[in-house]
Amino acid sequence: MAPRHTTALSLAAVAALALAGCSSTASESGADGISLITPGSLTVCTNPPYEPFEYKDGDTIVGLDIDIVQQVADDLDAELVLVETGFDGIQSGAALNANTCDLVASGITITEERAGKLDFSAPYFDANQGLLTTTDSGLDSLESLAGTTIGVQQATTGETFAADNGLDVLQYEDLGLQIQALKNGDVDGIINDIAVLGPYTSDEYVVGAEFSTGEQYGLGVKKGNTALLDAVDATIARIQSDGTYATIYATYIGVTAAEG
Ligand code: ARG
Repeated sequence: MAPRHTTALSLAAVAALALAGCSSTASESGADGISLITPGSLTVCTNPPYEPFEYKDGDTIVGLDIDIVQQVADDLDAELVLVETGFDGIQSGAALNANTCDLVASGITITEERAGKLDFSAPYFDANQGLLTTTDSGLDSLESLAGTTIGVQQATTGETFAADNGLDVLQYEDLGLQIQALKNGDVDGIINDIAVLGPYTSDEYVVGAEFSTGEQYGLGVKKGNTALLDAVDATIARIQSDGTYATIYATYIGVTAAEG
């Protein structure tokens, strides 16, 4: 499908919006009480590469998360604008608090700690952690990781899982750098959400273990932005009941992700 969003908000685009006879300002709320940082646009922070949730297809960011927020934007009659952001700032609420975006969509696990810093939508995806390692490493369980070095993504639940289990870790800013570290032989394996490891399996790399953490993803808004949160939840409920979510799920998860 042809993506309809823009991936960068240029000054020209901002100017064009301003000239388009838009009477509202960033701080002004519509009848439904929703105020967007750039009126007419739903600005979303996301942290690729994280296939199949957010990843680049050429210059365009696509994925399950992106299709979901496109649905939110459509329901709001807004244009979707994506902003590539570090995951740390996404999960801490910093990106939202700095008004970098209205919404964060980044395979974010709902945790109690995070729920103190941003407000989460209803859950939309179930996740566990997994280990990606070389085919010949023999690493296939938590116990087998004693004495190894494991790459984790900074500020993620995978990092917390590794720390809680006393693993020796090296931290990386994103999944792409984690994969590079494994390829370089800097680490014996990497831990991240199991669904994103599938695309990297090959003759050389396998998912050696799954760790059942029972996580659930949510979209996030700035703490207290109930008007937008209600709209997001309404869209999630709609796409779950009208078949749209099932279609999106089949597109990005289907059999492909499950089988790597
Ligand atoms: N689900 C994990 C967490 O919330 C990892 C998410 C990382 N997302 C990303 N787009 N890099 O901590």
